[in-house]
Amino acid sequence: MGINITVAKTAGFCFGVRRAMEQAEKLAENGGGYTLGQLIHNPFAIKALEDKGIFAIESLDGIKDGKTLIIRSHGVGQAVYDELNRRNIPFIDATCPKVVKIHKIVEEESARGANVLIAGDPSHPEIKGIVGHCQGEVRVINSLSDIENLVKTEKSFVQNSLIFLSQTTGKLSKWIEYKKIVKKHCTNIKIFDTICRATTCRQTEAEELASKSDLMIVVGGRESSNTAKLAEICGRYCRTFFTESAEALTLAEIKAVLSDLEAEKGKLKEESDINIGITAGASTPIGIIKEVHRYMSEITKTDEMDIDFMAEVDKTFKRVYIGNRVKAYVVAVNNTEAIVDIGTKHSGYIPADELTATPGLLPKDVVKVGDEIECLVTKIDDQNGIVNLSKKRVDAAAGLEKLSDACNNNTTVTGVVSAVVKGGVIVTCEGTRVFVPASHTGVSRGKRGDQPENPEELAKKLDTLLKKEVNLKIIEVSEGRGKVVGSIKNAVKEESDALKEKFWSEIEVGKKYVGEVKSMESYGVFVDLGGVDGMVHSSELTWNRIKHPKEIVSVGDKLEVYVKSYDPEKKRVSLGAKNPDDNPWTKFLAEFAVGDVVKVQVVSVTPFGAFAQIIPGVDGLIHISQISLDRVTNVAQYLTVGQVVEAKITEVDQEKNRVSLSIKELLEQQTGDSDSDEEEETSAEEEAIEEEAAEESASEE
Ligand code: F3S
Repeated sequence: MGINITVAKTAGFCFGVRRAMEQAEKLAENGGGYTLGQLIHNPFAIKALEDKGIFAIESLDGIKDGKTLIIRSHGVGQAVYDELNRRNIPFIDATCPKVVKIHKIVEEESARGANVLIAGDPSHPEIKGIVGHCQGEVRVINSLSDIENLVKTEKSFVQNSLIFLSQTTGKLSKWIEYKKIVKKHCTNIKIFDTICRATTCRQTEAEELASKSDLMIVVGGRESSNTAKLAEICGRYCRTFFTESAEALTLAEIKAVLSDLEAEKGKLKEESDINIGITAGASTPIGIIKEVHRYMSEITKTDEMDIDFMAEVDKTFKRVYIGNRVKAYVVAVNNTEAIVDIGTKHSGYIPADELTATPGLLPKDVVKVGDEIECLVTKIDDQNGIVNLSKKRVDAAAGLEKLSDACNNNTTVTGVVSAVVKGGVIVTCEGTRVFVPASHTGVSRGKRGDQPENPEELAKKLDTLLKKEVNLKIIEVSEGRGKVVGSIKNAVKEESDALKEKFWSEIEVGKKYVGEVKSMESYGVFVDLGGVDGMVHSSELTWNRIKHPKEIVSVGDKLEVYVKSYDPEKKRVSLGAKNPDDNPWTKFLAEFAVGDVVKVQVVSVTPFGAFAQIIPGVDGLIHISQISLDRVTNVAQYLTVGQVVEAKITEVDQEKNRVSLSIKELLEQQTGDSDSDEEEETSAEEEAIEEEAAEESASEE
């Protein structure tokens, strides 16, 4: 009958404790300092720290020499921070990021008026710290009877808006029970599952290991609540020893248990080996776990006596190697890196430039606390327990697969132009660098046959693409070399072809569009209608007389147009931009008629006459023969641009929108009127003469 010893993979320091210990080690190197309360619940670790000049104090009054204080991973209440600042005490905050997250939750929720209910040990420093961040009503429950009592007796507390969360090292099975009760009694409740994943994993593994073992050794400080919970869990499955160190294990006791086990197995005629499991709390140093393993191996006199025990223990822990892909749990994010837990004894760091291939992003733009991500191990520093990782490289490998699919299926992908390089640009797409040759960027490179472009000029043009999001087609993927080539131009062409096809299938005379003026000629403007350009002739731009389209529009302007005609074969669209409601002819015909005398302003003078504006948008022609009663040979001798004259409307051609004006007819009319007056006067004179003559002839008779 053999004896097997298995050490739980999750035994020992969790991320938060390891981080706090690292900070304490650094402080020790810089002259030492204090911790507010014991940094971790383990007497051996505390002794080791004291030897290095780090002392635990119970109150801030214990700091006499201006040295730095470390706030331990359990965290503290807001009042402690306030006091530290008031007294100007330098401090390092080693509160575990997962506990900081809880502080934020209770601060925000209690500030909005919610009551706070916490599952945990009210005397535990973590719980005291959390309570110290609540602003309103707060209760702590630590057993099923506590919570049952609370829902019965504190109705107004539980019926108010309520949040419920747990100590990070709480027991999962208890937490599930608590949640069932609060869900039944509290209707306005938000539950935050704050049990730390490290704790859950450790408890689950301890349970599994204990269920397969005949004896469990749980290693950790007596003060450590998470170690006590492990011992309680293991005790449900097999004989369990809770010890602070190898020395604290009693040889006689263990020998007695082993011989009992042998006897039991013998009685049951079981041939199986005796299985011994070892696990440890989050605050147990690895050295102590190794010592316990060494001790157990020695007293059980297994073949392992002769082997290197340290190496053997190391084997039982999850190992990582450079190039491994690992699942990482984000526990903290700052401006330069993301700190992750990869389930080993190491602290995992992902530097900002290994988080993403997209330039300009901060770590917080890429990951957040609580994210589970896949990373590649790039460097291992076992001495200091540090592993460097890259998320970028895992993303790039996944990205390469997606880009390969995009290439095979000719689908469009989106990326950001991240650099201008010799001969093109780099687009970061799906975490992968895609090279786009200059000829595929879509930047204008002059007409074919032009001089080859100066590289500096080309680089300037390519610079305009920097940081822009672009669509592209993947035209080549070389997976072996990780080389990917793309084309922005091909993607743009596909989009443009699709738009054109849609345009021609939907166009009809009279249809209105709002387009952008793309270019301008003296005779009109070209308007982009969404992939297809249409032309608005100058005469169709406005009802008023213009010499050049630039008088009323500029390139880039948005213009409302309608289709006058189109030819899908020749791909031509003729557009109008004049609003029929503003047609000055309608107004003219309503107000004026042939025979009316109007005041007009000469707008142009030609050899055959002068054009004069009657109202804006309607000009009439005063033909050379209609300018004067005299015979006119040179129009300019009679009329000049800007001159205002009176003329008579002599003809209106509604079909051709033409108006004829005559000054001469007006003059003739005026002359005729004065002639008839003279005639009247003459006949009166004649009558008088005749009367006189008659009178004279009568007197002679
Ligand atoms: Fe933090 Fe979880 Fe450890 S909350 S201190 S990592 S047990």
